[in-house]
Amino acid sequence: MDEIVIEGGVPLRGEIAVSGSKNAVLPLMVAGLLTDEKLVLRGTPRLADTRTLAKVLGELGAAVEEFGDGPGEGVSVQATDLVSTRAPYEWVSKMRASFWVLGPLLARAHQAQVSLPGGCAIGTRPVDLYLNGLEAMGADIVVEGGYVNATAKGGLKAARVDFPFVSVGATHVLMMAACLAKGTSVITNAASEPEVVDVGTCLQAMGAKIDGLGTRTLTIDGVARLSGADHTVTRDRIEAGAFALAVAATHGDVTLTGIDENLLGALAPAMRLAGAELSETGTGLHVKGPRGRAIATPVTTEPYPGFATDLQAPFMGLMCCADGVSRIRETIFENRFMHVQELARLGADISLEGDTAIVTGVEKLFGAPVMATDLRASVTLVIAGLMAEGQTRIARVYHLDRGYERIEEKLSAVGAKIWRESQ
Ligand code: EPZ
Repeated sequence: MDEIVIEGGVPLRGEIAVSGSKNAVLPLMVAGLLTDEKLVLRGTPRLADTRTLAKVLGELGAAVEEFGDGPGEGVSVQATDLVSTRAPYEWVSKMRASFWVLGPLLARAHQAQVSLPGGCAIGTRPVDLYLNGLEAMGADIVVEGGYVNATAKGGLKAARVDFPFVSVGATHVLMMAACLAKGTSVITNAASEPEVVDVGTCLQAMGAKIDGLGTRTLTIDGVARLSGADHTVTRDRIEAGAFALAVAATHGDVTLTGIDENLLGALAPAMRLAGAELSETGTGLHVKGPRGRAIATPVTTEPYPGFATDLQAPFMGLMCCADGVSRIRETIFENRFMHVQELARLGADISLEGDTAIVTGVEKLFGAPVMATDLRASVTLVIAGLMAEGQTRIARVYHLDRGYERIEEKLSAVGAKIWRESQ
């Protein structure tokens, strides 16, 4: 298994191109199942997760093809015929977003057998919101033997779905299902994350009638069929955020190309409070680290436009060496602090009180062998390794490969001493 090795202490300088968004491209590829025509997605990242999903879609009957290179790269999905409506456990357990095929399969083929995803490292992650929403749209659902068996004889019918709280995945799935349901659906407490807006925009280009993207209420007039489309994927705000934090953590000076400050959302003001400078250059976002130690800054994760849970761990990486005590509260997932133990191995001083991590900044971190536990925890260890004195060796980097495209290449190009070793 590969390991990432980092010799820390080098300020990052130069330019990094931000990739297309993982959390947009996955539901966009799933949306390709809604039509028999070709869906072309441009600017997509090449990741372990997109390859896993390509296999899942292929088994259902879609032709998934990667094309181009570098900035011209993309992927197309063409599901002329659905040859299967079953997504087995071995796929869904590998990657949770595979569960989302439930929506398009039910909307287009009027039936689906999709494995329950089960819990995962960051929390229990139930699927009640998906199932209640689809039942409201007329689906008969039986959960048996670890599978969701769903049928919608005669097709899905429009419904009003009031989510009790915000769920990104349930919003994706219900929005896709409502596009082909008969009548007008209203979804309240919908997610307004940029990735949901991106998927909704692509669905509109496919002929869907969706109102309210980017707000908490979506109104969707079902149509009889959707067509293909040619869509460019939004840039990855979580990758961009991790790079911005790595620059701040190393007192570096880097322009993140292809994005503006808006993409960082609530991270931008938090980074300014922490002492980093951010300015737009016309081609991207210039990030300059604080002159001395970062300033301890509290954050609380919330649905968009609040501080993203996917940036909680990377932000904690920066706070490890901040001047003062920062309180970092996680309200989305109940077990998203696995990075704390690993950061402690590098010398961080962090204690947990319920849903809050209390980070007492130390002057320095020191390199050590550590282990990645999930996707965002692993990039946090990269940030911490870049800050630390000496060598950090990160095991289980397959977590990192799920969501960060060529990360060691991108960071080496801005001066980091980072490389991959195959064990
Ligand atoms: C998406 O997961 C993202 N995944 C996550 O990113 C991200 O952390 C999360 O949204 C929140 O922003 C992808 O886009 C592929 P949720 P999702 O449903 O949709 C609870 C990463 O690192 N819930 O918004 O699965 C759930 O347990 C990943 O890239 C229910 O209780 O998240 C959680 O506590 C990790 N019942 C909360 O809602 C349900 O039926 C929000 O989860 C559905 C969700």
